[in-house]
Amino acid sequence: MQTSSWVPLFPESASTFSWMVDALYFYLILISVAFTIPIVVAIFYFAVRYREKEKYATPEEMHGSIVLETVWSVIPFIISMTIFLTGAIVYYEQYRVPDDAMEVFVVGKQWMWKMQHSTGQREINELHVPVGRKVKLTMTTEDVLHDFSIPAFRTKADVVPGRYTYLWFEATKPGKYHLFCAEYCGLNHSGMGGWIYVMEQRDFDNWLAGNESGGTPVQQGQDLFENKLGCASCHAGGADQRGAKLEGIYNKEVKLVGGQTVIADDAYIRNSILNPSSQIVEGYQPIMPTFKGQVTEEQLVSLVAYIKSLSGVTGAAPTGTGTTGSSTMQGTSTNTNTTVAPRADRGNSNTQGSNPNAPATRPEPGRTNQ
Ligand code: CUA
Repeated sequence: MQTSSWVPLFPESASTFSWMVDALYFYLILISVAFTIPIVVAIFYFAVRYREKEKYATPEEMHGSIVLETVWSVIPFIISMTIFLTGAIVYYEQYRVPDDAMEVFVVGKQWMWKMQHSTGQREINELHVPVGRKVKLTMTTEDVLHDFSIPAFRTKADVVPGRYTYLWFEATKPGKYHLFCAEYCGLNHSGMGGWIYVMEQRDFDNWLAGNESGGTPVQQGQDLFENKLGCASCHAGGADQRGAKLEGIYNKEVKLVGGQTVIADDAYIRNSILNPSSQIVEGYQPIMPTFKGQVTEEQLVSLVAYIKSLSGVTGAAPTGTGTTGSSTMQGTSTNTNTTVAPRADRGNSNTQGSNPNAPATRPEPGRTNQ
C-alpha cells in the first residue's frame, strides 16, 4: 500500500533503483535550497546596507578579481557535472533492460492497459509480478501516445504508436502499486490507470497457475503464422521459399536490396510485416503484401514473439521453477535505444522442422530460483 517513505516528499519506494532517483532529487532540492537562502538573505541585507544615502552618489568601481571569477566558475562547474554524472548513472540503470528479465507485453489503448505474460495470461489494467525478479515490458499502443508510469518504482516510458518501447523494473517489496497513464491521451486519460500487484514468487506461481493462459504469445503467433495469416506458405523455411528465411535471424544483420544492412530486431520484424516493401531482403522479390490493418497490435506482438522463437529467443521464464512450457533460454536485450550486442548463443537456433515451443533443455546460466 502507499505508505510514507524515508522522505515524506516522495511516494513509496519499491524498486531496486527508486532510491537512486530519490537521492538525485534530494540532491537537486538541496542545491536549490542552498542557493535560494543566501540569495534571499543577500537581497534584504544589500537593500538595507546600500540604500540610497545621497542623490547621485558615484559608487567606487571594481576592476576584476581572479579569485571571485575562479570561485563562481569552478563551483557551478562541479555542481552541474555532479548532476550530469549522477543523472546519467541513474538513467542507464533505469533504461538499460537487463538480459535476464521475464517478459510482459503491454498494449495501450484509449483508455486501458492490456498486458500479456509470456506464459499467455492476459490482464487489463492490472499486472501481477513476482517480487525480486527483473521484469521487462515491451510496449506499444493501438491508437495514440500513452505513457506507462509506476511512481513507486520511479519509472515511466512513453508508449508510442507504430513502435516498441521498453521498460524494466525489479520490485523490492510485495504490495499494490499505482499504475498511471502519464501522457494526456484524450477524454478519459485520467481514468487510464490500474495497479501493479507485487507478490512473493510462490504466490505469483499460484496466480499464474490459477489463470487460464489460452496459449503463450509464441503459440498464438505460430497459429497466426501457420494458419490464420498464411505466412508459412512463403516463409515455411527450407530452400526455394519465396519469402526470406526467418530461422535464426533475430538480432543479426540482414542484408537488404541496395546494399544496406539492418539488425533484425523487434522493430524490424514489426516493420517487415506492416511495410514489407520498405526493407527487401537481398535475393528476394518485393512480392509480400502488407498486413497493415489486418493484424492488431496484440497479434503483432505474438508474431514477433514467434519469429524470435525461431531464433531461440523467448526470454526468461516467469515462474520460479521454470517448468512451464516456455523455454528458459535467455533473450537478448532488444532495447532499440542501445546497441544490440550479438547474441551469445548465436548458431544455437532451432533446426528446421523442430518445434520452437518445445521446452529448452539447456539450463539458464547464472540465475538462481527465488
Ligand atoms: Cu493513455 Cu493518458
